Amino acid sequence: MSRRGKFITFEGLDGTGKSTQMRKLAAKLRAAGHKVVETREPGGTATGEKIRRVLLDSATEGLSPMAEMALMFASRAQHIAEVIQPALDHGQIVLCDRFTDSTEAYQGSGRRLGSEAVLRLHRILCGDLQPDLTILLDDDLGKSIGRARRRNHKAAKQAEGLGGRGDENRFEQQDRAFFARVHDGYAAIARREPGRVVVVDASGEKGETGRRVVEAVNKRLKVSASAREKNR
Ligand code: TYD
Repeated sequence: MSRRGKFITFEGLDGTGKSTQMRKLAAKLRAAGHKVVETREPGGTATGEKIRRVLLDSATEGLSPMAEMALMFASRAQHIAEVIQPALDHGQIVLCDRFTDSTEAYQGSGRRLGSEAVLRLHRILCGDLQPDLTILLDDDLGKSIGRARRRNHKAAKQAEGLGGRGDENRFEQQDRAFFARVHDGYAAIARREPGRVVVVDASGEKGETGRRVVEAVNKRLKVSASAREKNR
């Protein structure tokens, strides 16, 4: 697989501020002259966003863990074919909010399907595409869960006001033990692949977390994320 661009993924529990940090990094990289694609999973394509609605809507009942994992990979396979690989082929920087580490942490650990199944499916369905760098945002478990719940309840209320277009609460309804397993799953991935995964402490203020993210990108990828050092 040709890899002229750079593939950076953001991972972590719900409510660790991934989306905010990704947006900030994208702005910095663009200011430094890079072409950047921002995307997310599940989703990122028209088909993927439909799959996302099924996966995250709390009205989706009785979805088996295997079906859930299959849908995550269906969204991802489409996403790679339609968005990620073409952008990398064009030398762009792809920033992706969640990727296969999420499936390993949530379905593999959280749902107890195991890492092996996830990694095998990744090889078969995703051509084993690996990020060049993964930023794993880490914060206190209770704080992350609380933040994600507050945010999603607010979004669900707004959706209700717009005629009830569905919520994104299905995962938030899991208990603390589930999220503790997800957290452990992420920690195990970081230990296994220290060359790819950088754990960033997200417990402080957002600006400080942002500086750590930029530092990791500069250091690990030799990609400048500050306008001053514009070099391409
Ligand atoms: P996301 O929109 O990133 O939620 P948040 O902003 O709250 O972090 O992801 C939606 C949910 O989908 C999240 O709870 C994690 C879950 N998920 C999986 O369980 N497996 C996966 O492979 C992916 C990509 C997401």
